Amino acid sequence: MDLTLKVWRQKGPEAEGKMVSYDVKDISPDMSFLEMLDVLNEQLINNGDDPVAFDHDCREGICGSCSLYINGVPHGPKKQTTTCQLHMRSFKDGDTIYIEPWRAKAFPVIKDLVTDRSSFDRIMQSGGYVSVNTSGNTLDANAIPVPKENADMAFDSATCIGCGACVAACKNASAMLFASAKVSQLALLPQGEVEARERVQNMVAQMDKEGFGNCTVTGACEVECPKGISLENIARMNREYLKAALSPGK
Ligand code: SF4
Ligand code: FES
Repeated sequence: MDLTLKVWRQKGPEAEGKMVSYDVKDISPDMSFLEMLDVLNEQLINNGDDPVAFDHDCREGICGSCSLYINGVPHGPKKQTTTCQLHMRSFKDGDTIYIEPWRAKAFPVIKDLVTDRSSFDRIMQSGGYVSVNTSGNTLDANAIPVPKENADMAFDSATCIGCGACVAACKNASAMLFASAKVSQLALLPQGEVEARERVQNMVAQMDKEGFGNCTVTGACEVECPKGISLENIARMNREYLKAALSPGK
């Protein structure tokens, strides 16, 4: 396939960015979207130009780093598919493809298609963990019984890869789907109960501090999430927050 790519180029955080047009030829339909960008970068390097900076790591839908708008849609046209798992067979010969970084105040552009998503790390550091003693004997896996239904729901919430597509899809740039998945995966397990109150309050406070917008339940996040994280997580986090607000503080 021969394609025209319109790519956001921005030299640095303070530089003014613009869309730049590139032609790529002989792209195999079996290439992944990132492999197609590799071809573009080889072409740019061979011509002595600056390659396009873009984030990637696992290239198998696990790490959440390959975050791009493709034709205005987070992670591109295929449902529940990350950019690295998207194949060029989803496009046609002669297509023009627009490629941009996430657009959100809390995800500032570092260079080209790379954004700073450390705001998500700080939300996690504020409460997305359980404090356990990891030295000494390992507990038997079944020492604390967990109902199967809860284990399954916690697992579903834990599949969030922290990519930020939910923020990118939201007109308010809200991080509620991400934060609620992280709150839920622990709220559903007995191990998460001890710190439940502080967790939800701290994570919501950090989310606001980072400059993410408020949730108005438009549901765009759920539609674009590559891992199918459901809005039910947001409802659960709101319940957790209310419960925390009504329970006596320490
Ligand atoms: S909720 Fe979905 S879209 Fe949001 S960070 Fe997690 S995996 Fe990505
Ligand atoms: S590169 Fe890891 S999810 Fe795409």
